[in-house]
Amino acid sequence: MNKISVLFVCLGNICRSPAAEAIFIDLINKNSIAEKFVVDSAGTGSWHVGKLADLRMRDAAKNREIYITSRARQIKISDFEKFNYILTMDNSNFQNVINLKNRETKPGYSKVLKIQEFASKFKEPEVPDPYFGGEKGFDHVLDILEDSVKGFLKSIS
Ligand code: 4NP
Repeated sequence: MNKISVLFVCLGNICRSPAAEAIFIDLINKNSIAEKFVVDSAGTGSWHVGKLADLRMRDAAKNREIYITSRARQIKISDFEKFNYILTMDNSNFQNVINLKNRETKPGYSKVLKIQEFASKFKEPEVPDPYFGGEKGFDHVLDILEDSVKGFLKSIS
C-alpha cells in the first residue's frame, strides 16, 4: 500500500508546524487510519534544529490531550520527493517553500499548499506566528489548526 505522506511547514518548526503534525497524528489515530500515512514537520529556518517544540505550545496542546514530541528540523530538497503534500502555515512559508522547490531542476513531486485553505470556521488568511505573542496566541493557533487539519483530511479522504 502506498502511504500518503504529509509534511507541515512553518518558520521555526517549534510552534505551528509541530502542533499541526501532532493534531493530524491524533486525528488519524482516532480514525484508526494512521497506518495509511507518513507525517512529519519542518521549518524553513534552521535556528531551532534539534529542539523540542516551544514549551508554551506543548503546554497549550497538552491541555487538549495533544502531545507534541517532535524535534525541529529544516526542510530539505529531498522532502519534495518524499512528501505528497507540503502544508505551509503562512504566505511567507509558502513562498519560501515554492522558491526552494523551483530552485531544483528536477520537478518536485509534492503539492505545496497553505493549510488555511482547508479551514471552515476561521477565515484569517494565515496561521499567525505565536512566537512573540502571549499565551492566548497559542490556543488561537491550535483552534485554527484543529479546524484546518480536519478540513485537509476530509479533502483527501
Ligand atoms: P513557528 O514560530 O514558525 O511557528 O515555529 C516561530 C518560532 C521561532 C521563531 C519565529 C517563529 N524565531 O524567530 O526564532
